[in-house]
Amino acid sequence: MTDSSRDNLFSSPLGKVPSFVFDQAVVDVFPDMISRSVPGYETILAHTGELAERFVQANTHCYDLGCSLGASTIAVRQRIEGRGATIFAVDNSTAMLSKCQKILDARPDSTHVELVDSDICDIEISNASLVVMNFTLQFVPLAQRAALMEKIYQGLNPGGCVIISEKLSFEPESLNQLLSELHHGFKRAQGYSDLEISQKRDSIENVLVPETLDSHIQRLRACGFQSASPWFQCFNFCSLVAIK
Ligand SMILES: C[S@@+](CC[C@H](N)C(=O)[O-])C[C@H]1O[C@@H](n2cnc3c(N)ncnc32)[C@H](O)[C@@H]1O
Repeated sequence: MTDSSRDNLFSSPLGKVPSFVFDQAVVDVFPDMISRSVPGYETILAHTGELAERFVQANTHCYDLGCSLGASTIAVRQRIEGRGATIFAVDNSTAMLSKCQKILDARPDSTHVELVDSDICDIEISNASLVVMNFTLQFVPLAQRAALMEKIYQGLNPGGCVIISEKLSFEPESLNQLLSELHHGFKRAQGYSDLEISQKRDSIENVLVPETLDSHIQRLRACGFQSASPWFQCFNFCSLVAIK
């Protein structure tokens, strides 16, 4: 880890904290930021690969929606070699995608990865055996989430799998507060100061909008998913699997 790849973006007092965006400054520190901010991130990536190995069918499409630097794409790709699948890795941050392209180019693999610079709400999904949304749905405007999940359901082949990893909110507020404090304790243990934690929280407010686990499950059921369950949770971070 060099100084320039360590996440220090919120370490100095910023006065009025700007709203969080996935710009070049975030891209430069993103692997450090996500691994020190999301408890269980590495576990979720590893098991994303394991689920891919189980669910990806020959000559089908996989989608990594909100791919950032391609960590989930790489986790999937290394478990599905030789199946003739195509991975569509989609993000609407051009800065993320251009670094993602360099990372993928440095690790050649026989599975074709197509990078797509687009809003995930605007792409077509078809012939899919796997759709991964690791920490992306939480950034999609609430009003667009049901239509996005419906599109994913329609584009999945029978037996296809969707993985949704998210920050959650909880009811009652006292429980939300407890799990949020446990998360902040995790960040402190990862070396973030109280100032960094509080400025990042202000920056991400209204940009990352978490929902309850019940809301996620109800939306999946309304789309038609019969099987939908969390398979991992640490504090207020969760990963769900749903099968068509
Ligand atoms: C927290 S990161 C995802 C991390 C990544 N999936 C991983 O496993 O490392 C969220 C990503 O979603 C992208 N994103 C957010 N909203 C989006 C949208 N509506 N369409 C496309 N990409 C979006 C952001 O640019 C960002 O790169």
